[in-house]
Amino acid sequence: MVGLRDDLRLALDRVAFARRLGVDPDPWQEDLLGSSSDRVLLNCSRQSGKSTMSAVIALHRALYHPGSLILCLAPALRQSQELFGKVAGFYRDLGRPVAPQGERKLSLELENGSRIITLPGSEKTIRGFSGVALLVVDEAARVDDELYFAVRPMLAVSGGSLLMLTTPYGKRGVFYEEWTGASDSWERYEVLASECPRISEEFLEEERAALPSYVYRQEYECSFEETEDQVFTTTMIERAVTSEVTPLFGTG
Ligand SMILES: Nc1ncnc2c1ncn2[C@@H]1O[C@H](COP(=O)(O)OP(=O)(O)OP(=O)(O)O)[C@@H](O)[C@H]1O
Ligand SMILES: [Mg+2]
Repeated sequence: MVGLRDDLRLALDRVAFARRLGVDPDPWQEDLLGSSSDRVLLNCSRQSGKSTMSAVIALHRALYHPGSLILCLAPALRQSQELFGKVAGFYRDLGRPVAPQGERKLSLELENGSRIITLPGSEKTIRGFSGVALLVVDEAARVDDELYFAVRPMLAVSGGSLLMLTTPYGKRGVFYEEWTGASDSWERYEVLASECPRISEEFLEEERAALPSYVYRQEYECSFEETEDQVFTTTMIERAVTSEVTPLFGTG
């Protein structure tokens, strides 16, 4: 248990909070934790620590802003379980037990009235929440656009924050659009595997040799590659729809 003075420090300083949870943040993680932006996009390599950061941020919000509703979305149940596991693990590290019921429901209710709810991405389960203080979308590039459109209004009234984190998954979908779009309302972070101190050069060499190059670039180099089911590349399609070329046959 932490004392009052210590608690105040942790409330004001998310980097200190992360350290309290046993996570010594990497430089980009420190920037993220120090940021007060309420619209954040993380385009990160596999295993760079993005889910860990979202768990730290979610728990910090819940602990130090009483009555907060925090929703964490992931595309599939396994990923939401994994994310919830990180949140619950950190909470336990603070000496607070997680009821088995919460574990089953992937939800954590704190005595200050805050709730952290982790959901697998199916739009049907998601409608009905309102007053969301923080929305975390893990593996955002794989989350259906429909789901994203369904959740955004939940932030409207509460003025809640939105954190989307992912490894790229093709030149498609809302995350890709926002990442490459012109909107400056987002704070963007790009983290290559080579920047992660826990991923060795040797490991990356091995992966580079074992994986098709587009998979390597996607998983470790933050690159939005043509999707596997795309027969024509995006550039080919863009060229095909250009108005600069006169059609071979008249259109009317
Ligand atoms: N700053 C850090 N210090 C030490 N370990 C860290 C740090 N950040 C993350 N980790 C560890 O690195 C591993 C990967 O972290 P995490 O699962 O958050 O990454 P991820 O980017 O979500 O990976 P994936 O793409 O597989 O979902 C975990 O074991 C986590 O505890
Ligand atoms: Mg993850």
